[in-house]
Amino acid sequence: MRFVSENEPAERRARPRRGVGYRVLTQDSSISFEPIDLSRNADTAVAFRRDSYVCSFGSDQAFGGADEYLEWLSDRIARQPTGHVHVWHGAKIIGQLEMLIQTTAPVKGYVNLFYLVSEARGRGHGEALHSYFLQFMQAGGAHLARLSVSPRNARALAYYRNHGWQDLGLCTDDAAVHLMEFHVA
Ligand SMILES: CC(C)(COP(=O)(O)OP(=O)(O)OC[C@H]1O[C@@H](n2cnc3c(N)ncnc32)[C@H](O)[C@@H]1OP(=O)(O)O)[C@@H](O)C(=O)NCCC(=O)NCCS
Repeated sequence: MRFVSENEPAERRARPRRGVGYRVLTQDSSISFEPIDLSRNADTAVAFRRDSYVCSFGSDQAFGGADEYLEWLSDRIARQPTGHVHVWHGAKIIGQLEMLIQTTAPVKGYVNLFYLVSEARGRGHGEALHSYFLQFMQAGGAHLARLSVSPRNARALAYYRNHGWQDLGLCTDDAAVHLMEFHVA
């Protein structure tokens, strides 16, 4: 997924949604989600984002630069902090979610990143990430969510399909990725 803005709202400064969707019920009670604290965990955020490019495209060449990414992320956290969270397993950060609800009508969500560190994949934590995503979208009144995914990222594609995402095919403005859509119940 890209961090450049796709389908971003014209209204660039929605009020932060503090207090919405922090908690998610998981089978593993040691998993929690906290807004990304850039004063402490900027390096982790950059490393995870960089690795997501490797998982998606085979290299981090398209990542751009850490400074540009952190500027973008800081702005997004200020707008919707609970959409930009680190996934904690006990005292360890094992993942990251980046998503935003577009507040202009029709209200819809866009996910920029679902991420788990490699050793946390395939262990059921993906389920918790998806539950958090759902809660965030429902709390924000988004009935539809979208994301883009590289067709070479077979694991992510399987994960999204298993969770009910529909593949809309190649993105019209970026032939390197597929657009996927999810109808939020
Ligand atoms: C996407 C991500 C959050 C999913 O979490 P996860 O714990 O790996 O997900 P799951 O194990 O529940 O599901 C992955 C599915 O892919 C399958 N899979 C694993 N490796 C695969 C491969 N190489 N090719 C095809 N399918 C594969 C698994 O079998 C599983 O399907 P199943 O449940 O039907 O058996 C995680 O893989 C991740 O962080 N990946 C790196 C970052 C990334 O690519 N993010 C998405 C960017 S668009």
